[in-house]
Amino acid sequence: MSVDLSTSLGSLHLKAPTLTASGCAAAGRELAQFGDVATLGAVVTKSIMLQPRSGRATPRMAETPSGMLNSIGLQGPGVEAFIEKDLSWLSQNGVTTVVSIAGETTAEFAELAARLSNVPGIAALEVNISCPNVESRGQVFACDPYAAADVIAAVRREWTSDAPVLAKLSPDVTDIVSIAHSVREAGVDGVSMINTLLGMVIDVDRMKPLLGGRTGGLSGPAIRPVAVRAVYQVHAALPDLPILGMGGIRTGHDALEFFAAGASAVSIGTVVFGDPRAPWRVAEELSSELASRGYSAVRDVIGLAHR
Ligand code: FUM
Repeated sequence: MSVDLSTSLGSLHLKAPTLTASGCAAAGRELAQFGDVATLGAVVTKSIMLQPRSGRATPRMAETPSGMLNSIGLQGPGVEAFIEKDLSWLSQNGVTTVVSIAGETTAEFAELAARLSNVPGIAALEVNISCPNVESRGQVFACDPYAAADVIAAVRREWTSDAPVLAKLSPDVTDIVSIAHSVREAGVDGVSMINTLLGMVIDVDRMKPLLGGRTGGLSGPAIRPVAVRAVYQVHAALPDLPILGMGGIRTGHDALEFFAAGASAVSIGTVVFGDPRAPWRVAEELSSELASRGYSAVRDVIGLAHR
């Protein structure tokens, strides 16, 4: 039985249901040795900032039960080098590209949106609001409905492209639905969820936090039930809001959970470090999972767990 795996995130048509997750496949070039990146739903790039940034102190990663903790600190080349080297490579290779942006102030997000607006080859913008707001005692934008909405409204004012704008939500909140409402009011076309959960590992030989940056983001299968719950809650409250679901997806079976919860597409993240073919493999497995249950299109199962 052939299964139609095409889907969409608002106005963005996707030929495949699996995308990379921001931060887990750089700008896609490293994955090219493992498969044709142009056949993925999209590459979601590592969040780019205005200026080059070296990131946080080492160590930056720690293994945890069924997951990992990272504290990279948004290392990156800055937007100009990104446009010149990474985006041009993605365009030349026909890759559907979702550009993730991050800033320390609302004005920085707005400036990034303005700079990228007329750059060709961007299929969607993912606004990574899971970073500290330096103008508000370091509170993470995504954890405050007003700060989150301010960033989205500012991006929206500057974004002149027709490509959709997605807000990437953090699970480190009491009520993720209220944040989704807030960014939707501010003008997003969809949400990406979830980002990592804030965590810490203590090195008991040194009696200090193991990571150089002390805290880090927990990802991997350990967070999958949290992610599925968050997708389910947001889809229940805002059924018309497109959701790019992510959080610990390793298999087609895992991906199917996200579609049933209400995601329209999924990003494959941490598993890529051990299995770089995972974004393609998960799509193939999803096809088998759907066929074995008698579904002929992935679109047919979006939100089915809400019946
Ligand atoms: O540390 C980092 O670069 C992670 C960013 C994120 O989780 O959004």
